[in-house]
Amino acid sequence: MQDIYSRQIEYLRIAVTDRCNLRCTYCMPAEGLPLKSHAEILSLEEIFQIVKAVVPLGIDKIRLTGGEPLVRLGLVDLVKQIRTIPEIKDISLTTNGILLSEFAESLKNAGLNRVNISLDTLDKAKFRQITRLGDIAKVHQGIEAALKAGLEPVKLNVVVIKGVNDGEILDFIELTRNKPLHVRFIELMPIGESDAKALASYLPAEEIKQLVQKKYNLTAVTRVMGSGPAKYYKIDGFKGTVGFIGAISAHFCHNCNRLRLTADGKLRPCLQKSLEYDLLTPLRQGVSQEELRKIVAKAIRHKPKEHDMEVNGWGKQKRGMSQIGG
Ligand code: 5AD
Ligand code: SF4
Repeated sequence: MQDIYSRQIEYLRIAVTDRCNLRCTYCMPAEGLPLKSHAEILSLEEIFQIVKAVVPLGIDKIRLTGGEPLVRLGLVDLVKQIRTIPEIKDISLTTNGILLSEFAESLKNAGLNRVNISLDTLDKAKFRQITRLGDIAKVHQGIEAALKAGLEPVKLNVVVIKGVNDGEILDFIELTRNKPLHVRFIELMPIGESDAKALASYLPAEEIKQLVQKKYNLTAVTRVMGSGPAKYYKIDGFKGTVGFIGAISAHFCHNCNRLRLTADGKLRPCLQKSLEYDLLTPLRQGVSQEELRKIVAKAIRHKPKEHDMEVNGWGKQKRGMSQIGG
């Protein structure tokens, strides 16, 4: 279905939980965020009902995210269920990778196509510092398991934070030399813990790219499987690619093709705006698939034209990334 700005909405990102086994400093406070009770969270069956309801609107790509999706019990079964819908062309997962080595193969067998793994540093101590809880060895095992299982492509998401990991950008590029890994550098956004004070840590994608170009010759490539906002480049002789996501600076809203479903069953047409459409309540009142679809269609019609994070973002976002779905 098209929205009123002629954008084809074909992609639903589903936060299957608001819980996470890490506490990344830019995302959550050390003690974590107030969590929703089990009853306030969509059951996997309810998520499946919603997926079935949106397919006739032209949604054919699903991403499972969180919080950390792999802490949700039954995730593999959810993938299996979604895979039974022939219209769904692509099922992907965004994970912090900690539990991925345990699940990569069964996820692949269940029908998962591909995976994005968040990794902001290659340094063990710094990883512990950024995530407060994580063991980087687990993430490396997760990456290997994803490659081995044949999840393709395997993308690495690196949120660039000035003074924290901007010195490691070239090290990340080296990861793409011998392995088919697709590293994407993401601008820090004013969401979650990254509010007003985080503006000082923000590094524009163009500056990151210029830094890379001092050492490497980048050739633009049209497409790495996926439908996202990254601009991708190849380096001669390298197996993987390098991408830049200028979430703030590039303002790719005119191409935005997605809706987000929060773990507590709210449909959000825009990452930044607080506009939400409740699906959980009507679902539990027993509305028909048709009625549910009407609410989703309404959300699509009201999808905002663009975010205004660059002027109105820093310090204003109510939900954190783990509560929206990253
Ligand atoms: N800015 C940019 N990216 C963020 N993420 C979480 N919070 C932010 C933020 N404030 C990223 C995670 C992960 C994805 C789900 O969202 O690092 O890669
Ligand atoms: Fe968890 Fe992702 Fe937030 Fe880190 S950024 S705390 S991995 S939800």
